[in-house]
Amino acid sequence: MLRVASLPGDGIGPEVCDAAVRVLAALPIDVAVEEHSFGGHAIREHGDPLPEETLAACRAADAVLMGAVGLPEFDGAPVRPEQGLIRLRGELDVYANLRPARADGIDLLIVRELVGGLYFGASGRRADGSAFDTCEYSPAQIERIARRAFELARDRRSFVTSVDKANVLETSRLWREVVSGLADEYPDVRLEHMLVDNAGLQLVLDPSQFDVILTENTFGDILSDVAAGSCGGLGVAASASLGDRPPGIFEPVHGTAPDIAGQGIANPAAAFRSVALLLRHAAGEQDLADELEQAVDATLLSNPTRDLGGSATTIESTDSVLDRLAAKTPDAR
Ligand code: NAD
Ligand code: IPM
Ligand code: MN
Repeated sequence: MLRVASLPGDGIGPEVCDAAVRVLAALPIDVAVEEHSFGGHAIREHGDPLPEETLAACRAADAVLMGAVGLPEFDGAPVRPEQGLIRLRGELDVYANLRPARADGIDLLIVRELVGGLYFGASGRRADGSAFDTCEYSPAQIERIARRAFELARDRRSFVTSVDKANVLETSRLWREVVSGLADEYPDVRLEHMLVDNAGLQLVLDPSQFDVILTENTFGDILSDVAAGSCGGLGVAASASLGDRPPGIFEPVHGTAPDIAGQGIANPAAAFRSVALLLRHAAGEQDLADELEQAVDATLLSNPTRDLGGSATTIESTDSVLDRLAAKTPDAR
């Protein structure tokens, strides 16, 4: 029995998370899904974006399926929904954030360090009115994410592009040193380094040149939206956040999309592809993951949502995926 903690969150989070849970429940696997309060929803109910009960349930689960958190109403508030997400990532130590981007001729994987750097450094305000965020990385933090990237590359096209800002930042120079120092242990994997500004350009001009992109937290956040933009947009971009042991967190790259929330038109594909990553990385169900990905790919062509130029609603798009799955797996419930 696969125990999944679902955290719908805010905005379109619950819309796409509900769709993902419908798909998960229709698959021929033994799964129990339990929903928990998270993000802005949890601030309103409990005054805390990550209530203790939610954290305990995530720790006890085999996988966490997330929607998205954050809303404009919390801009300037003392506690923000996003803090809950960052804390959850840290608590579960899911340091490896896998963000695949696929489209015609493009098949790349961003491996983003997720529990270090600016997001976890000292920050604050000073009496003089200034503000600061600090970026720190230890060799051990860099080594474990780099090893993950090299290992993932071996199952792909064996090419890692490590992205940094080593011409300016000390943390980037350490990053480059540590990554280069590991290369001897992975002689079958080609390693190149690229500066982050150029990487942004290359992701727009010629994303097909990349296999695995290895990078730190903030750069990975930005580059994964850029890569999504080259592959159909945020409506289709999924992610898996993994540590050395379960549970991993499986969530779309996109946020709560306040501009379309409540209209029932969010593209659920990113959430479905996140379920496929869950099947792959948390359930060992490679074949089911393949089937789900194929059903989603076909639905993106036959019933596109508005972000892709179509008119399908979230529910219509979900029904189309469910129909395709049912046709493929006769024992689907
Ligand atoms: P966003 O990703 O929510 O939206 C950016 C644009 O993409 C919007 O135009 C939106 O309509 C569109 N979009 C996103 N997902 C879509 C989908 N599934 N279908 C169709 N269109 C989609 O980014 P934002 O507007 O910068 O952020 C809104 C809030 O979301 C902020 O509070 C931010 O902190 C939060 N956020 C949360 C996560 C997360 O929980 N993992 C990720 C990113 C942003
Ligand atoms: C993402 C989001 C988060 C991040 C925010 C909401 C904390 O943008 O998952 O990409 O920056 O990691
Ligand atoms: Mn982001």
